[in-house]
Amino acid sequence: MDRPYLIDIPQISDPRGNLSFLESTSLLPFKIKRVFWTYNVPSGERRGGHSYKKQSEVIVALSGAVDIVTIDQNNTRVTFRLDRANKGLFIPAKTWRRMEYFSGNAFCLHLSDTHYNEEDYERFERR
Ligand code: TYD
Repeated sequence: MDRPYLIDIPQISDPRGNLSFLESTSLLPFKIKRVFWTYNVPSGERRGGHSYKKQSEVIVALSGAVDIVTIDQNNTRVTFRLDRANKGLFIPAKTWRRMEYFSGNAFCLHLSDTHYNEEDYERFERR
């Protein structure tokens, strides 16, 4: 799949609260090599503004909300609103993304299929 898409993450609810999970490679389309998270993003700030040559990732807003603008290899632009802990966004390699309109309490988990490598980044601004 070379387009971004939303993943419905299972949510197990009982009187003690909710539990959600992701597992490679049934729910996640790759094996996880790296996990990082973005948080304490000041109001009005944007992150990303790049694509990766090789890395694919899944982003989950564990708390709060964020918009993720994506532009895929066919130049198709789609904006996804992540606002639930049981909704993930798969972003394949070679897809430009920008995170914006972070809510004050936004805490975003990123699951990646590569180790960190600055040479994997292709940075450019889009409107
Ligand atoms: P960057 O990926 O540019 O952040 P964003 O896409 O959210 O705007 O990363 C910001 C800085 O953090 C940059 O100097 C690289 C560093 N970094 C690591 O050292 N390891 C990592 O796994 C990541 C994701 C970033």
